[in-house]
Amino acid sequence: MTQILEVKKLKKYYPIKKIGRRSYVKAVDNISFSVRRGKILGILGESGCGKSTLGRVITRLEMENGGDIFFLGNNISGINYRKIKDFRQKMQVIFQNPYDSFDPRRAIIKSLEIPMKLLNIGQNRRNRIEIIMDAMERAKLTPAYDYLERYPHELSGGQLQRISMLRSMLLKPNFLVADECVSMLDVSVRAEVLNMLLQFRSELETSILFITHDISVAKYMCDRIMVIYAGKVMEIADAKELISNPMHPYTKALISYSPIISPQREKDRFTITGEVVTPIDPPAGCRFASRCPFAKEICYTEDPEMTEISPGHFAACHLID
Ligand SMILES: Nc1ncnc2c1ncn2[C@@H]1O[C@H](COP(=O)(O)OP(=O)(O)O)[C@@H](O)[C@H]1O
Ligand SMILES: [Mg+2]
Repeated sequence: MTQILEVKKLKKYYPIKKIGRRSYVKAVDNISFSVRRGKILGILGESGCGKSTLGRVITRLEMENGGDIFFLGNNISGINYRKIKDFRQKMQVIFQNPYDSFDPRRAIIKSLEIPMKLLNIGQNRRNRIEIIMDAMERAKLTPAYDYLERYPHELSGGQLQRISMLRSMLLKPNFLVADECVSMLDVSVRAEVLNMLLQFRSELETSILFITHDISVAKYMCDRIMVIYAGKVMEIADAKELISNPMHPYTKALISYSPIISPQREKDRFTITGEVVTPIDPPAGCRFASRCPFAKEICYTEDPEMTEISPGHFAACHLID
């Protein structure tokens, strides 16, 4: 099976209180995409656009309000992960802050061993420790015993995030969601954390949903990139194509703001004004219209469809022919 994850018209609406009527934040609104085996799909967008919500719904930490999620060919919509056999082994998630995902009172070795034991990986304790030591060595976390006997607070954020990746990978997942996994770390250690993820992907052919607000990190990591804005997909394409040939005005703006990606484009820097909108009871039309310098009348009245502009390159914008 090459399609590991397939998401169709996924919706996550949060009810909020507004006097006199029921309102919703449409955090994820009709999002569709798929991820092939061994591929990394980037989810790119500014803070508040719905990236983490998408990750939480896919990993079954929250339930959707509509749409379908197919994982390894099975429809897992509406099903809590506790009800899905082997789910926690097959789909893993890595969060921004590694200190939140380790028990502070447990030595690292315990935190690594417990999930393996629960999932019957390794024959006995000795064998599990051998597997852990070997993985630590290969991940260049050496000497391994130096890390294994320590507690989370005795490690740096970068070291602990690498160990959290290793803990996931020991379970040989088919799919991994990494949500802003280097955003909290010093710039100096980001590359080694990202490289470790790339190494795992090649070794295990794990598919990754790589969530980031940083376009240069997305460029480094991803095979394909999906740009979202206020709960909607604006554009999706192969990473190189998206960055060298952006079609959507929002993608163009994101690229133009990144000095690393477009230093030579200073002169034709593309600016958008206003704040990111929160999609509370969003009006008809394109969600980006209120900030788009090119918006026409139709942009305020009709929601643009996702259209394939060139093979594998999709965008939702009335201004593109
Ligand atoms: N539990 C919740 N209740 C109400 N609104 C929420 C909840 N979680 C997220 N939101 C809203 O959904 C939108 C998307 O949030 P989030 O997925 O965290 O964005 P991102 O990860 O891209 O920064 C935001 O407007 C946020 O305020
Ligand atoms: Mg987030």
